[in-house]
Amino acid sequence: MPLERYEYMSNVWRDGIFDNKVVFCTGGAGSICSAQVRALVALGANACIIGRNVEKTETVAKDIATVRPGAKVLGIGAIDVRKPELLQAAADRCAKELGSIDFVIAGAAGNFLATIDQISPNALKSVIDIDVLGSYNTVKATLPYLVESAAKHKTNGKTAPRNGTGGRIIFVSATLHYTGTPLQSHVSVAKAGVDAMATAVALEQGPKGITSNVIAPGPIADTEGVARLSKKETRDLSYKAIPSQRYGTVKEIADATIYLFSDSGNFVNGETLVVDGGQWHTAGYG
Ligand code: HXC
Repeated sequence: MPLERYEYMSNVWRDGIFDNKVVFCTGGAGSICSAQVRALVALGANACIIGRNVEKTETVAKDIATVRPGAKVLGIGAIDVRKPELLQAAADRCAKELGSIDFVIAGAAGNFLATIDQISPNALKSVIDIDVLGSYNTVKATLPYLVESAAKHKTNGKTAPRNGTGGRIIFVSATLHYTGTPLQSHVSVAKAGVDAMATAVALEQGPKGITSNVIAPGPIADTEGVARLSKKETRDLSYKAIPSQRYGTVKEIADATIYLFSDSGNFVNGETLVVDGGQWHTAGYG
């Protein structure tokens, strides 16, 4: 039987599944988020990536655009996610220039390694503000566009949408706070807040057709997070402590993203998809 005839044929990683979709991504110049956006763009989406560093954000946007002929990728730098008016202006520009906002990735995060006695009140506030307030500002600035997008895909209550979705949010979180991680109390508090927000948004905005989920990456090779965490004694980050016996790849975070934004992820709402090779179940110590 040809695969296309199979009624449950998954559309994950098929050319064009995100044609005419637009993704808005904060932290989009970072290693994980840029891989997520690159995958969506490869499969048809246009994108707007948001960052603090102008040159880096514009360079990464140009690079992502090369993945598919005709792709439009805006890189909007000098945006601090703690500033709602800047994010609103970026969201409005994205919708105006690219036509809509169908998917949002709230990926901007702050991190450094410090014990609780080394963390000043302002340092704690900075990380909570980037992660929690920044995620809130991102949702607030984009929600009207997401609701508009979701309305295009609403069904009669019996059938699932096919051939395209919209109104999807992914918050990029972590697993650090599941078990406790030394030198990461500030980030743990912030990511717990992000997780809680994602669930509340799922329940509250679900009836409008919005889905809100979390991706929680574990140790992913060639990322700033792993480079920093493995410099000091935080968790055992050797691959032997990971049940899958290796680090993850940014492609595996992109795979999770494609799943959640595709038709295959239609009915997943308010969930956390942990992509960590089973690491957190070991309590972080192998
Ligand atoms: C203690 C520190 C510090 C450190 C900064 N601070 N670095 N305290 N140890 N290493 C304190 C400062 O002294 C200041 O407090 C306060 O934090 C704010 O610092 P600023 O530099 O003035 O502010 P800001 O520009 O807002 O910087 C925020 C930041 C920074 C979080 C401190 O690191 C940042 O913006 N990082 C963004 C990029 C990033 O980290 N991405 C990685 C995400 S990876 P005082 O009291 O002096 O004013 C990730 C993955 C985790 O999250 C999971 C891995 C598995």
